[in-house]
Amino acid sequence: MSADTANGKAKIKIDSASKVYETQSGYVHALDNFSSDIQERELVCVVGPSGCGKTTLLWALSGLHPLTSGTVYLDDVPVKGPHPEIGMIFQEANLLPWRNLIKNIEFPFEIKKLNPNDYRDRIQHLLETVGLAGFENKYPRELSGGMQQRASLVRCLSFDPSVMLMDEPFGALDAFTRDEMNLLLLKLWTENQKTIVFVTHSITEALFLADRILVMSPRPGRLTREFKVDLPRPRHLDMQMTPYFMEATKEIKDIIYASIEVEQHADG
Ligand SMILES: Nc1ncnc2c1ncn2[C@@H]1O[C@H](COP(=O)(O)OP(=O)(O)O)[C@@H](O)[C@H]1O
Ligand SMILES: [Mg+2]
Repeated sequence: MSADTANGKAKIKIDSASKVYETQSGYVHALDNFSSDIQERELVCVVGPSGCGKTTLLWALSGLHPLTSGTVYLDDVPVKGPHPEIGMIFQEANLLPWRNLIKNIEFPFEIKKLNPNDYRDRIQHLLETVGLAGFENKYPRELSGGMQQRASLVRCLSFDPSVMLMDEPFGALDAFTRDEMNLLLLKLWTENQKTIVFVTHSITEALFLADRILVMSPRPGRLTREFKVDLPRPRHLDMQMTPYFMEATKEIKDIIYASIEVEQHADG
């Protein structure tokens, strides 16, 4: 069943989102009239060229940065500030170096004024799932990049948000670790039933993970195409070698390059 017809009610509704940054050298139009509905438990990837407004869109979804115009709704309620139902993961794991692993995982509980003792079983299960059980007392410097990102996945999921917003979380990892993390993310998503918006500039990663891909134009970022991924689940790395996967990669690449050309013609 297509995710956008799953229950007819959007978990996240992005309605005509636009963002213009005011800088010392003028205005930067980062996001232009972007609209899309994201269904509950859908995994949506956002791809587009560097600087097209992907991060701007994600921060708007988080409620941490306001839009210039347009509205983001979570369960039909406008998102106007940090939201307990939303967890974020960034390219850098952003672990605090002076805290050990478990103290890092407990950090959002302090911000959200929740008692981590109520979530002990959940945290332990997550640590086991990502292969970090036994590392609770290690400090970030003692963990590899992949382990740090595993820790940030646990930190995000530990307080059980219904939405995960991820900004190129595996972009700095080597290709093998990235494959591993993609498989791990799919496992966590299946077990935890989250709605995920995942930003990446890797078309391969987007196709491998997503139910649906939102393809963005160069700045100002517009939604050029919604691409439904026609691959069964569970996903396997071998699927990346199938004719469908390669054709879909080319199709999305063509959409992005066509929009870059349009932009260049408009400029020149
Ligand atoms: N805080 C900011 N102030 C001014 N300009 C910004 C700010 N954040 C992003 N931009 C600009 O907005 C555009 C989109 O940025 P961003 O959303 O980070 O793109 P992406 O994540 O797709 O690379 C870029 O031109 C960037 O330089
Ligand atoms: Mg970005």
